[in-house]
Amino acid sequence: MAGGRFLSLEGIDGSGKSTQGRLLAEALRGLGHEVVLTREPGGSPGAEEIRRLVLEGAVDRWSAETELLLFTAARRDHLEKTIRPALARGAVVITDRFADSSRMYQGISRGDLAGMVDALHALMIGVEPDLTLLIDIDPEVGLARAVAREGSEQRFEDMGLDLQRRMRAGFLALAAAHPARFRVIDGARAPAEVAAEVLAVTRTHLEG
Ligand code: ADP
Ligand code: TYD
Repeated sequence: MAGGRFLSLEGIDGSGKSTQGRLLAEALRGLGHEVVLTREPGGSPGAEEIRRLVLEGAVDRWSAETELLLFTAARRDHLEKTIRPALARGAVVITDRFADSSRMYQGISRGDLAGMVDALHALMIGVEPDLTLLIDIDPEVGLARAVAREGSEQRFEDMGLDLQRRMRAGFLALAAAHPARFRVIDGARAPAEVAAEVLAVTRTHLEG
């Protein structure tokens, strides 16, 4: 996509993506970049409505297939209404999760829908971030952090530790399969230390 740069943060629940997104956005703004910090599911008014449908309520509220359609619909709206316009202006877009989250959560967590995830992505989305920062963390640490947060968006956290372990392994395998796009960042350090590495990696990418 012409113009700006498209960055994503990925990782299991509680890995520190939102914290790092905020810190990276502040740092890049300080360097003079226009930054759009956004998130999935959500990031546009329509996609935020879909977010409530997929993240609240009982774990078995949706079938895996219906859930994949909802995440893909949200992503399409996010792309049309927020990401493409920002990139066209030349902004740096930082999204807290993108299609890799569907590859992991819908692709491997609820039956093997990986082929369907890839087919829908090719049909409806068709773009990848220029750079993906995978914040890697031990699932026990991530889950403890995520559960400590208050809120009603617990459907995925409720799926438990075993799922988070499979997600972590899946994310690391995805990073290994796409080394040009991914950088793996050790998230088990103080936020400022993680942020320093995230900024260094991003600056190298933006200036490269
Ligand atoms: P995510 O967006 O990946 O779920 P968050 O950034 O929301 O993660 O972090 C989850 C929780 O852990 C928050 O309460 C946050 O303040 C805390 N946290 C984030 N990064 C760290 C870190 N490096 N060390 C300790 N706690 C952290
Ligand atoms: P998020 O708000 O990033 O949760 P957290 O801050 O706990 O990491 O994402 C909400 C949940 O939605 C998270 O458990 C992962 C899930 N998700 C999917 O299952 N598929 C997707 O395509 C996306 C974007 C998120």
